[in-house]
Amino acid sequence: MRPVGFSGGMAAVAATLLAACWGDPAPAAEVVQGDAASGAQAFLLCSACHNAKPGGGALIGPNLWNVVGRGIAAAEDFDYSAELKAVGGNWTTTLLDRFLTSPNDFAPGTRMGFAGMADANERANIIAYLESLKDGAAETAAAPAMDYGADWPAGPGQAEAGRLCNSCHSLTLVKQQQLSRKTWDQLLEWMVEEQGMAEQSPATRELILGYLTEHFGVPE
Ligand code: HEC
Ligand code: HEC
Repeated sequence: MRPVGFSGGMAAVAATLLAACWGDPAPAAEVVQGDAASGAQAFLLCSACHNAKPGGGALIGPNLWNVVGRGIAAAEDFDYSAELKAVGGNWTTTLLDRFLTSPNDFAPGTRMGFAGMADANERANIIAYLESLKDGAAETAAAPAMDYGADWPAGPGQAEAGRLCNSCHSLTLVKQQQLSRKTWDQLLEWMVEEQGMAEQSPATRELILGYLTEHFGVPE
C-alpha cells in the first residue's frame, strides 16, 4: 500500500540508491589487512541490525561480540535461518570476507537482509573491527557515538529511529516531512514493503512511530 503523495518509480530509485550505498557484490578477493578504527565507523551500516557489546542482546541480527572464531550461527539467543546453520564450522576472517561480499551467495536463503560490500578494503576494515570485539583485545575500537545532525531531537526512540532510517538515506529526507501519525504509519509500511526496510518488532516499531509523530508530526 502506497501512501498518497509518494511519487512513482520509487523502486527504480531504490535500486540505484542501494547500489550506490553498498555496490554490487563482487567475487571475494584476497583478504587485505584492515583498519579497526575505520571499521568501527563503517559498522554503523550494520548497527541497525547488530549489537556488538558484550552481553548485549540480539536485534534483527545476532550479537556480534566475540564473533571471530565463534561457531557459525551459534549465538544462543538467536533463531538463525536453516541455511546459515547448515554452513557449519567457525567464523574465520576469510569466511567473514566471503560472507560480507555477498551474504546470499555465501548462504543462499540467509535472512541477513544486506546486499553485500563490493569494496575489499571496507570489508577488511569491518573485519578488523570485528576482531577487536573480544575480551582482552589489545585495543578495542569503541564505536563512535552517532551524530544524527541538527533537528533530530533527543527523546525516546531517537537512537532507534536515527540508526534505522539513517542506514539507507540521510535523515534530512525524514526531517523535512510533516505527517500525521496515520501517514507516518503508512510510510513505515511502505518502507518495509517497497524499500526493503527490515520489519521491526512491535515494540521498536511503536517507539519509532511515536518518535516520528512527536517530532515531525501534524494533527490528523
Ligand atoms: C538488515 C539487517 C542486517 C544488516 C544491515 C546486517 N546484518 Fe548481519 N545478520 C542479520 C541477520 C538477520 C543475521 C542472521 C542471518 C541468518 O540467520 O541467516 C545476520 C548474521 C550475521 C553474521 C553471522 C553471525 C553468526 O552468529 O553466525 C555476521 C558475522 C554478520 N551478520 C555481520 C554483519 C555485518 C558486519 C554487517 C554490516 C556490514 C551486517 N551484518 C549487516 C541482519 C543484518
Ligand atoms: C532499507 C533502506 C531504507 C530504510 C531502512 C529506510 N528507508 Fe526511507 N527510503 C528508502 C528509499 C530507497 C527511498 C526512496 C528513495 C529516495 O526518495 O531517496 C526512501 C524514501 C523515504 C522518504 C521520502 C518519501 C518521498 O515521498 O519521497 C521518507 C520520508 C523516508 N524514506 C522515511 C524513512 C524513515 C522514517 C525511515 C526509518 C523509520 C526510513 N525511511 C528507513 C529506503 C529506506
